[in-house]
Amino acid sequence: MQIEPLKQKYEQILRDFYAQLRDFYTQLRAIHVDQLERKWITISMLVIGLFVGIITIDAFFHGVNPPSKVETIDSAKLHLSKEFAEDNLGVQVDAKGNVIIRMVAGRYSFFPKHIDVPAETPLTFRWVSMDVLHGVHIPMTNMSTMIVPGYVAEITTTFPKPGEYPVLCNEFCGLGHNHMWSNISVIAKEDWKAPVKAVVKGGSTNE
Ligand code: CUA
Repeated sequence: MQIEPLKQKYEQILRDFYAQLRDFYTQLRAIHVDQLERKWITISMLVIGLFVGIITIDAFFHGVNPPSKVETIDSAKLHLSKEFAEDNLGVQVDAKGNVIIRMVAGRYSFFPKHIDVPAETPLTFRWVSMDVLHGVHIPMTNMSTMIVPGYVAEITTTFPKPGEYPVLCNEFCGLGHNHMWSNISVIAKEDWKAPVKAVVKGGSTNE
């Protein structure tokens, strides 16, 4: 394949695009906009810019980002799946010492209802939905994600201090949505004991 004609073609496309953009801008300039209106347009643009900036900076410093990969699961057969069968839910420590927490969201609760986790330790949560779209938000952490049926949402977070943390559903999922919450007990690192359980394989963290 010859590179030169392709390159010329792309350059032509870019040039055309730029010319159109310039025309558009000239036309835009020709429209009469009142001085006051111009000011308000500028102010609203600045406000939008400020908000987008705050969100970007906040996401950067708090490590908020979309899940890194797409992992699918059959939501209708969670109880039959190896990983999300009832006995495997909750807290586990894998062979490498990573703390993995498997949780199921369903109308209208998160299961298991209650878990104990250590503070100041990276915890990898794997969330699945057994019915509709839910969300999960844990205040004071970077835990905020949608739980889309058919997909596993994996997020790693750390609880800075011991205490009781609420786990809230933040996607409207039905009439009981505002009652859909549970809590997590965060225990001081030295007092926490790993649960004795057979370790399940699954996910990126403990392959
Ligand atoms: Cu689950 Cu809202």
